[in-house]
Amino acid sequence: MINKFIGLNWKLNPETFSQAKDLGSFSDKKGVVIFPPFIFLESLKQLLVSAQLGAQNVFWEKKGAFTGEISPVMLQKMGINYVLIGHSERRKYFNETSTIINKKIKKSLDLHLKVVLCVGETQKIRNQGIKFVQNYLKKELLEDLAQIKNIPQLIVAYEPAWAIGRGSSDDPKVSAQIISFIKDFLKSKNVLNLKVIYGGSVNSANVFQFAALDVIDGVLVGQASLKKSELKKIFSAFYVS
Ligand code: PGA
Repeated sequence: MINKFIGLNWKLNPETFSQAKDLGSFSDKKGVVIFPPFIFLESLKQLLVSAQLGAQNVFWEKKGAFTGEISPVMLQKMGINYVLIGHSERRKYFNETSTIINKKIKKSLDLHLKVVLCVGETQKIRNQGIKFVQNYLKKELLEDLAQIKNIPQLIVAYEPAWAIGRGSSDDPKVSAQIISFIKDFLKSKNVLNLKVIYGGSVNSANVFQFAALDVIDGVLVGQASLKKSELKKIFSAFYVS
């Protein structure tokens, strides 16, 4: 039984296709969406039977003189279903602003890609309390989704930036409260039936707590998605075999 979203964000890993193939085969399960580096997408597409694929990033133009970029049309034509947009690492290291993120979302939705939009506050904001986190998220969501009316293909990943890559997650109950807030807020803007997932140091030790909370529609897993022993437990938390 799986009706939750299990996203595996490999980031800048692994180094070789042979490792990617091994990891991909191990993760080839229904309900799983793998986000590998671009160069592995096409070969993994041939290999996978049950898991779906997503890109970690995308450009906002369909084609043209934009050296180094990958367009949403290329992804669509390759049969890639999902795209991750606005990850905190892209905002931080590549200076992606809400204006850029908004353009990427618009173009991807136009081409019927399913967008996983990552949002989340810094440690400094969390330290100021939940009200500050809510205000920050409202602003981030409004800016990222500005002038986007019809959003049937959107998933929001609540990823508190401070909980990413550090080995211990947010308190699942606090994240559940914030996810509920995101759903209510976007509902008030007419975004209905929205899926909101959690990301930030999900691993075998905490995944069962996240999986047990109804309001959380799934997880986005980074570093633990590179280890089979971790993946095995993560899949079992969602009854994926
Ligand atoms: P992490 O990454 O699980 O390594 O914290 C999650 C993410 O960045 O999506």
